[in-house]
Amino acid sequence: MNIFEFDKLCYGGDYNPEQWLGYDGIWDEDIRLMKTAGINCVSLGIFSWAAIEKEEGVFDFSWLDEIIEKLYTNGIYVILATPSGARPPWLAQKYPEVLRTREDRLKNLYGRRHNHCLTSPVYREKTAIIDEKLSERYGAHRAVIMWHISNEFSGECHCPHCQERFRTWLKQKYHNSLDELNHAWWNRFWSHTYTDWSQIESPSSIGENIVHAHMLDWNSFVSDMTIEFYNNEVNAVRKHSDLPVTANFMDYEYIDYYKMSKYTDMVTWDNYPQWHNSSETMCETAVKTAFMHDMFRSMKQQPFLMIESTPSLVNWHPVNKLKAPGVNTLASLQAVAHGSDGVMYFQIRKSRGASEKFHGAVIDHEGSENTRVFREVAELGKILAENPDIKGTYTPSDVAVVYDFQNSWAIHELWGLKTERNYRSECMKHYAAFRAHGANVDVVGVKSDFSKYKVICAPMLYMVSKETADKIRDYIRSGGIFIATYLTSYVNESDLCHLGGFPGYLKDVFGIWNEEIDSLYENNAVITPNGEYAVTDYCEIIHPDDVVEILGKYKNDFYANSPAVTRNIFGNGTAYYIAARTGADYLKTLYGGILSEIGFNMPIDFDENSVSVTQRGDKLFVMNFSDKESSVKYNGEKIQLKPYGFEIKNIR
Ligand code: GLA
Ligand code: ZN
Repeated sequence: MNIFEFDKLCYGGDYNPEQWLGYDGIWDEDIRLMKTAGINCVSLGIFSWAAIEKEEGVFDFSWLDEIIEKLYTNGIYVILATPSGARPPWLAQKYPEVLRTREDRLKNLYGRRHNHCLTSPVYREKTAIIDEKLSERYGAHRAVIMWHISNEFSGECHCPHCQERFRTWLKQKYHNSLDELNHAWWNRFWSHTYTDWSQIESPSSIGENIVHAHMLDWNSFVSDMTIEFYNNEVNAVRKHSDLPVTANFMDYEYIDYYKMSKYTDMVTWDNYPQWHNSSETMCETAVKTAFMHDMFRSMKQQPFLMIESTPSLVNWHPVNKLKAPGVNTLASLQAVAHGSDGVMYFQIRKSRGASEKFHGAVIDHEGSENTRVFREVAELGKILAENPDIKGTYTPSDVAVVYDFQNSWAIHELWGLKTERNYRSECMKHYAAFRAHGANVDVVGVKSDFSKYKVICAPMLYMVSKETADKIRDYIRSGGIFIATYLTSYVNESDLCHLGGFPGYLKDVFGIWNEEIDSLYENNAVITPNGEYAVTDYCEIIHPDDVVEILGKYKNDFYANSPAVTRNIFGNGTAYYIAARTGADYLKTLYGGILSEIGFNMPIDFDENSVSVTQRGDKLFVMNFSDKESSVKYNGEKIQLKPYGFEIKNIR
């Protein structure tokens, strides 16, 4: 059986039984407690390398055999990990090249985890050996349902191996032509023209780190090397196993996850929002979390798995606040509503020592079922068990928001504008404005398939290649509604500015020329026929063609009364341009109109500042992310929600 054939929602989490070897009775007690909580699945072996290969080439699987068997006979399935996320000291001591070199060229000592070179031939070889052994032994085991490759891939290495590999990668990208590279990187600037490939180094705070195309290439290289490293492990486990593979993603920006997701069978991710923080409401935190769930779901357009979350608190936020009663259930069901085929925790039992001993877990140091957290975990176990029909269901969305990693890297690197560009949170704001009407929304990259959607909104799409521009053009021409904003299409894929005016290749599509962008100290406003809306941070001064409809104008500054929002009919579709950073209120109004245009109608009245609604299959999840009672009206019928309460409603 594999995870796709598993007929229940997965419920469980990371389990580290090797930490309890020599503690008699703990495993049995853990299993008893897991069963009490309704747990049916654990991730095993994530950091077990030292417990399996105690010295080079000497493998001991006895404890793993025993625990897998015990779990299985108790109805608990296993997502089996490869242990490359952390390594035994003997390995680093014998092969120092496996450890990372920092960007300032200092070589790391042994320690912590994830501290490994992505290109080291020795590390790839050693990980492949242990992975293949695991695959041979457990790759067809009846208890194992999926491979969990490594752990939270992230970070970079600047060792000599990586430098060499970077140069090879660049040679391939630039067709062995330094001229091509020098042009793409604009190297005549500050006399940077390279005359030999060996002169090129990875970016560094003690060297080059402000040539934007160089930085972008480095980011793409690191992302590609991560994928290559991952694939090296996948090939090893595939030797004796055809189980699905995954890697737990995070809310990081190191990797182009859209690209990497293609090499996984299921997208999984680790979700640790800062619930109850003091700078936003619970509902705002919920919207950001929903955005991430939707991005990970959209990658493969199939259910994903929230493979880590905490049942109570973490130990690495600035303030490690407990989840209030009800919040774990609500946050877990939110994942399910957005497409997760289960709820997985970090961790089942708290480690007794080291850095995670105060991180939340299903089983606390106290060790029994008599804790608030355990009781809530067990209650949720019942709810999930009562809803097996949710598993595998998928609801397509009509609307997509574009959030692209390459674009994010480029916006991050550029010099200019204001220091804070807030690309991701702006995408979230536009996303929230659609969600406020009860719409399900996908989150996609520029390379994703656009043809599925009636509306696509791409905030701050600064980097637009000819290929992307053509894709947007075709999408609109054939009837799509596309919304772009300030900062659209300033540069090409090498971060070279478009000549002939912004938005580059898309000027005719939007029917505008954007002459200047203003960064604001004070707010401005957009005036529309329906009222006045606040503008912060950015205003572009645009010149629409005659046929373009003007939906809003600036109120203040020397460009007062000039166009701020436009709509252009292009082919069979419509191209909106929002030239300023507006607030959520304006977006909600504008997108309400667009949603009615496409015939979207979710018959529900709710306050998006406390409640969230999401459709999955024939169920509507109505969730109250507020500590006050709330109510919604669905088809005229009132649904009352307790503080942090929810209702899963059948809608067909
Ligand atoms: C990450 C890791 C886990 C654990 C948790 C703690 O998500 O993957 O191993 O350290 O953080 O929150
Ligand atoms: Zn390296």
